[in-house]
Amino acid sequence: MIALITAIARRCRAALDELRGTPSPTPPIAVAEGTDARGAGWWDLLPFTAHRITLAPGLETAAIGSRPSTDVRTEIVLEACGGSLDGRTVVDLGCLEGGFTLAFAERGAQHALGIEARELSVQRCELARSFLGLDNAEFVIADLKTELPRRDPFDIVFATGILYHVADPAEMLRSMRAACTHLALIDTHVADPERATHGCSPMTERMSGGVSSPGRMFPEYAPDVSDGEKEGLVWAAYSDVDAFWPTEAALVDMIRTAGFARVEKVDPLTDGRGDRWGVDPINRVMYLAYV
Ligand SMILES: C[S@@+](CC[C@H](N)C(=O)[O-])C[C@H]1O[C@@H](n2cnc3c(N)ncnc32)[C@H](O)[C@@H]1O
Repeated sequence: MIALITAIARRCRAALDELRGTPSPTPPIAVAEGTDARGAGWWDLLPFTAHRITLAPGLETAAIGSRPSTDVRTEIVLEACGGSLDGRTVVDLGCLEGGFTLAFAERGAQHALGIEARELSVQRCELARSFLGLDNAEFVIADLKTELPRRDPFDIVFATGILYHVADPAEMLRSMRAACTHLALIDTHVADPERATHGCSPMTERMSGGVSSPGRMFPEYAPDVSDGEKEGLVWAAYSDVDAFWPTEAALVDMIRTAGFARVEKVDPLTDGRGDRWGVDPINRVMYLAYV
C-alpha cells in the first residue's frame, strides 16, 4: 500500500510539474530501449475522460465532459442544504476523476471523501486535488460496498452514475441510508417496463432483503474479463458482472424501504432550470432522499 501511495504521489508530482511548465528532467518511469513507446508516466493521467476541472485559468483537465463545479447536481445538493456546505461532510460514491468531490470541497464542505475502485482514476483525483490545494478532500481506492460501511456516517451521500452499476441496488441503498445523516442524491438509470434500452435483459424480478422488485439486468462486461481489462474500463462496474436496473416505481420503493423518510423527484427540465444534467438522458432519473 505504501509503495502504491508513493508511486501515485510521484506520478502526480511529475504531472503537476509538467502542467506548471517546469517539467521533470527525466520521465518518472523508464522507457524500454529501442522502442517508440514512451512507457507509463504522468501523460497517462491526461486528459481526464469525463470531468472537466479548471485547475487554473485556461488550464482544464479535459476539453469535453461535465463541469462538476457548476453542474446542476452540485447546485441541487447546495440548495437542499440551505445554500451552504459549511461544516458538512460528503461522500461521493464511484467518484471517477473526483470532480464532484472537489466541487463540494471547494464549496466549503468540512470533509469530502471520494470512493473510487480504479487506481488510475484515483491518481487523476489526486492530481486535481493537489493542483487545487484542497486539503478537505480525500480520495480512497476501494470498493464502495466494503468502504462505505467502514466509515463514520456523512451528512450527504452523493450517488451519481453508480446505482445502475450494482447487482443489488436495494442493498446499496440500505448501506447509503446507514451512512447518511441528512440527505442522499441519487442520479441513475432505471428500467422502462415497456422497452429494453442499453442492451438490458427482458423484464425480470430480483429479491433483496425479502422484497421482490421488477426491473432488467444490465450486462457490464464478459464474465471472463481479465483484471487488467476490468481496470481499464474506467466508467464500468467494478465488482458486479451484471447490474440490476429496477423500474422507477421499484426504485422509489427501494429508497423508502431502505429507511429514507422523504423522497423527492428532481427534474431540472421541469423545475424552472430548463436544462437536464449532461448525461445520457434515456431512462435517467434523479431523486433527493432525506433521512
Ligand atoms: C459511470 S461512472 C460515474 C462517475 C461519477 N460518479 C459521475 O457521475 O461522473 C461510475 C464510476 O463508479 C466506479 N465504480 C463502479 N463500481 C464501483 C465500486 N464497486 N466501488 C467503487 N467504485 C466503483 C467506476 O470505476 C466509475 O468511476
